[in-house]
Amino acid sequence: MATRGHWGGRVGFILAAAGGAVGLGNIWKFPYEVGQNGGAAFIILYLICILMVGFPLMCAEIFIGKMSQKNPVGAFRFFKNEKLPLPIIGYVGVFVGILILSYYSVITGWTFHYFIRSLSGFSGSDSEIRNIFNELYASPWINILFHTVVMTIVVAIISRGVQKGIETVSKILMPLLGIILLILTIYSLTTTGADKALEFLFSPDFSKINSTTLLKVMGTSFFTLSLGMGAMITYGSYLSKDISIAKSSIQIALIDTFVALMAGVMIFPIVFSYGCEPTAGPSLIFQTLPLLFSKMPGGQLVSIAFFALVIFAAVTSAISLLEVVVSFAVDEYGLGRKKATVIFGLIIWAVGILSAISSLKIGEKTFLDIFDGLTTHYLMPIGGLLTMLVFGWIVDEKMKKEEFASHPMFYKMFTIVTKVITPVLLLFVVLNEALGIG
Ligand code: TRP
Repeated sequence: MATRGHWGGRVGFILAAAGGAVGLGNIWKFPYEVGQNGGAAFIILYLICILMVGFPLMCAEIFIGKMSQKNPVGAFRFFKNEKLPLPIIGYVGVFVGILILSYYSVITGWTFHYFIRSLSGFSGSDSEIRNIFNELYASPWINILFHTVVMTIVVAIISRGVQKGIETVSKILMPLLGIILLILTIYSLTTTGADKALEFLFSPDFSKINSTTLLKVMGTSFFTLSLGMGAMITYGSYLSKDISIAKSSIQIALIDTFVALMAGVMIFPIVFSYGCEPTAGPSLIFQTLPLLFSKMPGGQLVSIAFFALVIFAAVTSAISLLEVVVSFAVDEYGLGRKKATVIFGLIIWAVGILSAISSLKIGEKTFLDIFDGLTTHYLMPIGGLLTMLVFGWIVDEKMKKEEFASHPMFYKMFTIVTKVITPVLLLFVVLNEALGIG
């Protein structure tokens, strides 16, 4: 069997993992949820979730990967336990990866479509511009076409391997993403709505928070950090022994959080400048923003840069999802990487067709909604909870000490958080979802 791929170095790993984390969750989902759920209060809860749930779970996942040097299924098998069928957690993770990528690729396809539209500029009446999305959403063939393009790109990158594929692409796209984000944010802050936007984003009104919001925050922080299904286990499994997990996790979580916040700071000044409501929901970047791009000076250039940014973020995330599945097929069944990539790329492409055809529904819900709801509300929180329990209670203390105990104070707190606090918070989410309170 070929030797297992490894990251070229620390920077490569951080950029790849941050690339997996920073995605549509940060630039599309986070801003619209902030907008719908009262702004600053949502952001504060989000930061607390990242600290109390996201960071510990990120450490746990990377640890499980780094120690076992295996895909999620093999990784849980590595921490043997006669009584418990731990690898099931890994199997569910792989399944979740297939489901998420299948619809994630369709949404990424929308951003490709908008990028191409932005090259010739958004023009026409307000309703015409808003209608671009409605038309796109209702056109199965266009959706399938762009979904196919996205999957082809993702397969091409993943088939090249960990270092030559994922790492190289992340090292190019992530710095570009940072530069575009910075320029757009600075530009946005010069618009007239900047003051109002900053107030909206940073002065909290806690009356807007209820238990549903709390669950949303948890779900989104999970999703943006790519936790709960083995993506970070997989990326961690390509780490060599000398790279610190705690330090890397802090950096990845910081980059991810920073990009989400910057996306808010970039989007809302524009929204307020033109007297729009921040509460648009999922259509925020697909209907509200194009409309505003059509009105603002230099709007065409801004829109091209903006959709390029979203594409870069989405593609580096999509590859992290396919990598989970491919590493599983390679490790567990001894398939060659290229073969595994093509086979699973095709399977995911086929499943994605369900989401690409918005008229296919079960009851009122499209497949995209169903897959998204099932994964973000149920499977990932459950996966996260089980992963945390394995890490907190089953993994050998000595192993954990070696990795995390260089600062005794940190280790004490870390132990309490990972054994008790994070599992309790996750249990709260899982029970809430299960009992349908959320
Ligand atoms: N984190 C990415 C985003 O914010 C999406 C993503 C990539 C993901 N890999 C994942 C989500 C694994 C959950 C699990 O868009």
